[in-house]
Amino acid sequence: MRVNLVILLLLTLLLVSSVTAEDGATIPASEEDQQLFARVSEIPALVSQGKVTPGQVPNPHWRDDACQACHSGNPDARPVQLQGSNADQLCQYCHAVSFALSDSHPVGVKPEVAMIARMPASYRDVIEQREGNLACVTCHELPAQCLTGRRSEKQGNPSFLRDGPFRIRTDQCYLCHDAKLYKRLNPHEQLTKDGRLRPATCLLCHSEDLDSLRKTKGIEKLDFYGEHDLKNLCTRCHPWVPHPGGAFGISPEEAGQKHLQKPSAEVLQLMQKKAEKSSVTLPLEPETGKIFCATCHDPHERGVLENTRPGKEPGKRLRAEQICIQCHLRRL
Ligand code: HEC
Ligand code: HEC
Ligand code: HEC
Ligand code: HEC
Ligand code: HEC
Ligand code: HEC
Ligand code: HEC
Ligand code: HEC
Repeated sequence: MRVNLVILLLLTLLLVSSVTAEDGATIPASEEDQQLFARVSEIPALVSQGKVTPGQVPNPHWRDDACQACHSGNPDARPVQLQGSNADQLCQYCHAVSFALSDSHPVGVKPEVAMIARMPASYRDVIEQREGNLACVTCHELPAQCLTGRRSEKQGNPSFLRDGPFRIRTDQCYLCHDAKLYKRLNPHEQLTKDGRLRPATCLLCHSEDLDSLRKTKGIEKLDFYGEHDLKNLCTRCHPWVPHPGGAFGISPEEAGQKHLQKPSAEVLQLMQKKAEKSSVTLPLEPETGKIFCATCHDPHERGVLENTRPGKEPGKRLRAEQICIQCHLRRL
């Protein structure tokens, strides 16, 4: 009982403190944050040099004292003057380095005529202003978090979605996508019926341009969204359920953890031996050497990468029918 009371008290405190902390206007930015707001274009370099950790990238949204993080000169000047050559680049200064875009969406792609006809005028206008391209600001309406008169919108629409908030998340998707074709929003279906590549699917995970992407070989040379923890590429759509191996006398959690770790020298040796003998490759996360989702699952449709031919894939997108024996001596 007493424990419950303490928890209740803690929760109340937490709630109260987050209410005041969330109202950016009331708490001035710290000096460190102010310094970073004044030089956002340098943030990617500072993070890659380790001088700033991703968690230290300050949040400029919905505050009165961070206009200069995004605007150069007078924020009320017209036309709007932004840091960076365009709004997408501005967002990337912080969002490409600070954390995975847990809801990333292809940008820099041109919607087809049918889609343009479907979407509301508010979306069509922003797309037209950007030579027909989809951008971060197509879906995120920045003025909502800019203008002090609109601060009250924060509570209902924290991500400043254009024309938001939406009752169901997918309502926004269907402003552009055909609801009847929802099943098509599967990023693993990367080829059209007649075998052409669907570039937008690549941009969901890869941040380089398509020409250089297709020539790249080897996971360590690639650029991903959410670079620091590659399982984020997958867990933004597939909730992590610990697996595989839960049924072998250890708990699913334990087996799941072991399967997102750096393999022991023994397992590594076996993996290398297997790789020499077969065409199956099991890529590890380059920064950490850890096993991650795409070690066992191939996110690509057969026929997209040079070393694969179109054809039937093993179930569950696994890289091999007999996936366990790629890393374990016996069939577990
Ligand atoms: C996270 C970046 C960011 C922050 C912080 C920010 N702005 Fe903006 N602001 C933008 C972008 C981007 C646009 C242009 C949106 C577009 O083109 O769709 C914009 C547009 C505007 C506009 C034009 C609005 C309109 O209706 O056309 C004004 C005025 C403005 N900002 C003022 C401010 C002020 C004042 C602050 C600080 C209180 C501020 N902004 C903070 C990014 C930001
Ligand atoms: C100065 C760095 C910086 C810039 C520039 C910036 N952001 Fe952010 N943004 C952040 C941080 C930090 C957060 C909070 C992250 C968190 O809480 O995990 C955030 C949060 C957000 C959120 C989620 C808001 C919420 O509370 O749920 C959205 C949406 C967003 N940013 C979009 C954008 C867009 C679009 C742009 C470009 C126009 C942009 N940001 C520019 C640093 C930045
Ligand atoms: C097609 C629409 C669309 C585009 C384009 C888009 N976003 Fe989003 N974004 C969303 C939606 C929907 C959410 C989820 C908001 C929610 O659940 O409240 C979101 C959420 C976010 C968040 C918050 C993530 C979190 O975990 O809370 C950030 C940060 C963000 N977007 C940044 C960006 C940036 C940067 C770009 C451009 C590179 C971009 N978005 C392009 C629709 C879009
Ligand atoms: C402003 C219009 C717009 C909105 C809103 C939008 N999308 Fe998209 N989306 C596009 C465009 C344009 C493409 C690229 C289409 C292409 O060339 O295949 C795309 C592509 C995609 C793709 C890549 C695979 C494919 O099927 O082409 C996925 C997945 C996707 N969108 C999911 C979503 C989800 C989920 C939402 C809602 C959170 C959403 N979209 C909202 C315009 C939009
Ligand atoms: C769901 C996320 C995701 C999508 C979507 C995706 N990729 Fe990948 N891609 C990865 C991951 C993870 C790797 C590293 C592991 C590997 O090699 O498969 C990778 C690796 C690659 C490689 C390097 C392969 C090698 O030989 O080392 C190429 C080339 C590539 N992707 C091209 C594409 C193209 C082209 C598309 C679009 C048709 C695409 N990817 C879509 C996640 C994705
Ligand atoms: C934009 C959302 C999205 C992202 C990101 C994504 N997937 Fe998927 N994935 C889907 C959809 C949709 C399906 C097909 C429907 C289904 O079976 O759940 C699917 C199917 C799968 C399946 C087959 C499931 C089965 O039961 O046959 C596996 C395995 C998988 N994805 C793994 C991955 C991995 C690994 C990554 C990251 C490299 C990834 N996915 C990223 C949406 C996504
Ligand atoms: C060590 C190999 C391995 C790793 C690592 C791994 N998986 Fe799997 N995954 C499997 C196997 C084997 C299956 C099918 C049997 C099972 O469910 O245990 C599977 C099944 C799935 C399915 C289909 C689930 C269903 O209900 O049928 C999805 C989705 C999936 N994995 C996603 C992921 C994601 C996301 C990650 C990373 C967070 C991941 N996997 C990491 C081996 C792996
Ligand atoms: C990419 C390599 C890889 C694949 C594929 C893989 N495992 Fe593992 N597995 C490991 C590693 C690494 C450990 C941790 C032990 C170690 O490092 O020696 C582990 C541990 C386990 C354990 C815990 C017992 C122990 O030895 O610690 C079980 C059970 C298990 N795996 C079952 C499976 C099953 C079942 C499959 C196939 C569905 C599978 N594994 C596929 C790499 C793999």
